Amino acid sequence: MHYYIITGASRGLGKALAESVLSLPDTKVIGVSRHATIEHERYSHQPLDLSDMLAVQNNLHKVFPQWPDAQSITLINNAAVLGEIGYLGEHQNEHFEFVFDVNIVAPAMLMNTFLSAYSGLSIPRTILNISSGAAQRAVDGWGAYSASKAALDALSRTAQKEQDLRGSGIRIRSLSPGILDTAMQEHIRTADEYSFSEAAKFASFYQKGKLANPVDIVDKIVSWLRETSYENRSVVLRITDL
Ligand SMILES: NC(=O)c1ccc[n+]([C@@H]2O[C@H](COP(=O)([O-])OP(=O)(O)OC[C@H]3O[C@@H](n4cnc5c(N)ncnc54)[C@H](OP(=O)(O)O)[C@@H]3O)[C@@H](O)[C@H]2O)c1
Repeated sequence: MHYYIITGASRGLGKALAESVLSLPDTKVIGVSRHATIEHERYSHQPLDLSDMLAVQNNLHKVFPQWPDAQSITLINNAAVLGEIGYLGEHQNEHFEFVFDVNIVAPAMLMNTFLSAYSGLSIPRTILNISSGAAQRAVDGWGAYSASKAALDALSRTAQKEQDLRGSGIRIRSLSPGILDTAMQEHIRTADEYSFSEAAKFASFYQKGKLANPVDIVDKIVSWLRETSYENRSVVLRITDL
């Protein structure tokens, strides 16, 4: 059996990834999010609010059991929030805690627990962190989000180096999926030019049909995940690199 633990599998990219995995034989998906929206005999749901650090600490062990029949185990850290769109100096301080908790603190704990639970195995094991182009450039109004994704890229590079030094054979990647037609983009389109200077540009991406449907890119990601020769040595990737 091939096991996939996917955070944020209730909608958007995470749900499309889960459904793509479930369309293949011999797969099981464990979805981690607040809502459960998938019904499938090989799907199980772990309800968890990734902004609630006490709940994360108390429940993490439940999503990383030992599976005697595992042929591969994959963790996809997909859940993320953009948070309120606005400039530094104009936020409530709690905004930073919320965005960083969901986007980098919880994924770091998930990575840590995955590596602790499975580093001794010899089956293929992968951690795929879903990043963003915003990790690599300044996007006004998205400060905490950009910084959290840059941190995710840095953590992925470090964790891969450590696993290489230990010779564990575990693959860790951070993938920017491109601009997708999801609830996150709907949220982006609620911002005005004062809070986000690229508001009109992102509205026109949507109007001109330039947002990718997640369903159209997930098979490419899942096929790449199933490759066992890890030829691409770069840890931080864009969807066009796959
Ligand atoms: N959409 C884009 O254009 C775009 C571009 C670049 C990168 N990305 C990245 O792609 C990934 C997926 O984004 P998306 O567009 O599919 O977003 P989305 O439609 O907003 O979905 C976000 C997912 O994250 C989960 N989530 C949010 N807050 C959570 C919390 N507190 N606890 C647990 N789960 C939580 C949600 O589940 P619940 O609400 O059920 O908890 C949902 O399943 C993210 O990492 C995002 O940064 C997206």
